[in-house]
Amino acid sequence: MKIYHLSAECYPVAKVGGLADVVGALPKYQNLAGLQAAVVMPFYDRKFTQENDFEIVFAAATLLGNRRLFFEILKEKTNKLGFELYLVKIPGLLDRENIYSYPDERDQFMAFQLAFLDWISYSQQTPDLIHCHDHHAGLVPFLLYHSKLYTRLANTPTIFTIHNGQYHGAFGWDRLSLLPEIDLTKTGLLDWAGGINPLAAAVKCSWRYTTVSPTYLEELTYNSNGLEYLFYIERAKGYGIMNGIDTEVWNPQTDPMIPTKFSAKTLAKGKRANKEAICKRFELDPEKPLFTFIGRLVVEKGADLLPAAIERSLLENEGEVNFVILGAGDKENELALLQLKNKYPEHCNVFIGYDESLAHLIYAGADFLLMPSRVEPCGLNQLYALRYGTMPIVRTTGGLKDSVIDFGDEGGYGIRFVQASVQDICHSVFRAKQLYQDSAKMQQLRKQMMALDFSWARSTQQYTELYESLKLTL
Ligand code: ADP
Ligand code: GLC
Repeated sequence: MKIYHLSAECYPVAKVGGLADVVGALPKYQNLAGLQAAVVMPFYDRKFTQENDFEIVFAAATLLGNRRLFFEILKEKTNKLGFELYLVKIPGLLDRENIYSYPDERDQFMAFQLAFLDWISYSQQTPDLIHCHDHHAGLVPFLLYHSKLYTRLANTPTIFTIHNGQYHGAFGWDRLSLLPEIDLTKTGLLDWAGGINPLAAAVKCSWRYTTVSPTYLEELTYNSNGLEYLFYIERAKGYGIMNGIDTEVWNPQTDPMIPTKFSAKTLAKGKRANKEAICKRFELDPEKPLFTFIGRLVVEKGADLLPAAIERSLLENEGEVNFVILGAGDKENELALLQLKNKYPEHCNVFIGYDESLAHLIYAGADFLLMPSRVEPCGLNQLYALRYGTMPIVRTTGGLKDSVIDFGDEGGYGIRFVQASVQDICHSVFRAKQLYQDSAKMQQLRKQMMALDFSWARSTQQYTELYESLKLTL
C-alpha cells in the first residue's frame, strides 16, 4: 500500500514541535510493518537540507492564481530516515529557513499543496492513500475531489490527522482565485464562519479524520476555536489514535545526546549522573528535587502560569525544590521567567530558545516534568519523560489524560491535576516533593514508568486497520 504523508514538519528535517516527531516516526514504523509510506514536505534551507544529498525527481510549474511558480520535487537519496523523503522546492517561496510565521505563509502552504498534487497528477502516480497532517495540508482532500485538474485522482482515499485543532489556517474568500479551477457548486465545503477554512474543509472532505489521542476527539466538540459544531456533526467520521514515540531516537540506553546512558537496571546511577550534569550547567543543588518544563511558552501549554507557580512553590516548600525551564514563545512569558531566574538564581534557571540535545539531557536528568496544558491534543513530552524515568505532572486534558495515571490510583506512576491554575500546580509540586523524600517508592515508580510501552507498534496497527477499512468502501 503506497501512502504519502503531507506535513509542514518532519524530524529531523525541520521541527518546531510534536508534529515533526510524529511525521518522522509513524512512516518509518509503517514501512517496518510492510506498507510503503513516504513523506512530502516543503523545502526549508536548514542544516538537514544543507548536509544531505538530494536528487531532482520532477520539475514543472504550478499556478497560484495568475502567478506561475516553478517547482522541483527533491528526493533524499539514501532513504536513511526509514522512508522516502520528498521536498517541494519553489524558489522565492519554499526555500527559506523558518517553517512558520512569514507574512505570505498562506501562499506558501497553498503552493506546497498544489505542487504536490500537480506532481502526482502529471507523473501519473496512483497512491493508495494520501494522509494529510494539520491545516497546512488541509486543502488537499477538497482539491482532489472538487478541482477539475485532478479528476484522475478523485477516488484516492484521504485521511486527515489533527495535531492541533486550535489553528485552522483560515483566510478570506478574496483568495478563492488562487485555487485551480474548481466545481463552484462545492465551495460550501471550503467555508466556515464566512471564510475559507482549510481545517474545516479537511474534516468535511477527507474520508476519515483522526485526532492524536482518544480524549482529544471528544474535546474538539467543545473546544476547537469555533469549529465545535462541525466536530459535533462530523463526529462519526472521527477516530482517536494515540501517538507513539520513536523508541530508537528516545532510548536512554543509546541516546547520544545524554552524557550517561542508562537502563531500568542502572537507573539510579544513570539518572543521578545526568541530573548532576544539568545541575552543574545550571548551578543548582542536585540534592533537591528537580522540576522542569520543556516546550512552547504559550497559553495553550499553561506557560503563563509557570512564573507564579514556581515562585509560590519556592516559598511554600522553603526553597527545597528547584526548577529548570527550556522553551521559547510568548515574549511576556519569556521575560517573566527570566526575571524569576534573576530573583532566585539558586533555585530556578531558564534557557530561552530551542535546543534538542538539552531537551534530551533534561528528560534524562530531571525528577519531574510539569505539563499544565490548557489544550494538549496528545503531548509527547510526558511520553519521553516516562521513558527516561522522569515523573510527569500533568493537567488532565487530551492525551495527558489518556497516558498518565496518578500514582495514588491503581497502577499509577504520575501526578495528575484538574485545573489549569497556580494552586493546582503548587499542590502537585508539594505532592511530588513529599514523594521524592521516599526514595524507595520513587525508585519503584521510576522502574514502572520505564517499563511502559508507548512505542509506535500499537498505533501503527490502528492506522493500518483504518486504511484497510477504507479500501473496503472503494
Ligand atoms: P507541541 O507539538 O504542542 O509543541 P509535543 O509535546 O507534542 O508538543 O511535542 C513537543 C516536542 O518539541 C518534543 O519533542 C519536545 O521535546 C520538543 N521541544 C519543545 N520545545 C523545545 C525546546 N525549546 N527545545 C528543545 N525541544 C523542544
Ligand atoms: C501538536 C499538539 C501536541 C501533539 C503533537 C503531535 O503539536 O499540540 O499535543 O503531541 O501535535 O501530534
